[in-house]
Amino acid sequence: MEIIRTVAELEQKTEQLRRQGLSIGLVPTMGALHAGHMSLIARARKENDIVVASVFVNPTQFNNPDDLKTYPRTEKADCKLLEEGGVDIAFIPSVEEIYPEPDTRVFELGPVAEVMEGAMRPGHFNGVAQIVSKLFAMTVPTRAYFGEKDFQQIAVIRKMVELEGFDLEIVPCPICREEDGLALSSRNVRLTPAQRAIAPAIAKTLASSVDWAKDHTVDQTKRFVIDTVNSFPHMNVEYYEIVDGKTMQPIKNWEETKEPVGCITVFCGDVRLIDNIRY
Ligand code: PAF
Repeated sequence: MEIIRTVAELEQKTEQLRRQGLSIGLVPTMGALHAGHMSLIARARKENDIVVASVFVNPTQFNNPDDLKTYPRTEKADCKLLEEGGVDIAFIPSVEEIYPEPDTRVFELGPVAEVMEGAMRPGHFNGVAQIVSKLFAMTVPTRAYFGEKDFQQIAVIRKMVELEGFDLEIVPCPICREEDGLALSSRNVRLTPAQRAIAPAIAKTLASSVDWAKDHTVDQTKRFVIDTVNSFPHMNVEYYEIVDGKTMQPIKNWEETKEPVGCITVFCGDVRLIDNIRY
């Protein structure tokens, strides 16, 4: 595996590979890799000649400075996993390399970016659009892989791709879970043992709400999820919305969409966990 730290080198290398007619799969990450990331890499490995994985904790998408400061950084372990996963190029730039000047671009992401994470974390999705558009422009991938845990992020990235006219396939990949159901996340390592023991209640509640939804309204289902998760110690639901899986707009009746998805954010202590479920 080749480790590249500069934009110029990445551009040069990927251009050379494209000229040889090779397909390139890009897996953008912020490091602290776990089995969820490795499933994206395995999929990219299967579907492309060349796999590029980026490891970059993107400061412009953090609206909370403490979250940026405490975000786990584990470069050595990440490189080992990327190598084991069969990655050809690990792109690990510094902040100065990606942002030699502040990125002042504002993306007109529209309604998909205004609700849920967009409402709770102002500027977050614009920061995601900034870094992902830069990575796409540098790498010019054939396909790019994103986990469905960040369900709304995929819709936002699709919108950015449409705005910028990138020609590539966005490949959404299913959520990976611990045996007890907890969605894998780099933030899970920050849970205390007591919080870690409770955290699977999020996924369990979402799963049981699918049955509940069969004979309850959207509002009743939302209430059921929020009240059940909040009844556990350490847990504080920030939001639970049931949305159309494409537009991300909250629905009022089940008949409004063929693809209802419930998206939740919960503070477990001070660790912000997200998850989602299809109805
Ligand atoms: O999902 C993430 O880890 C990040 O938002 C991404 C897509 C790597 C951009 O920094």
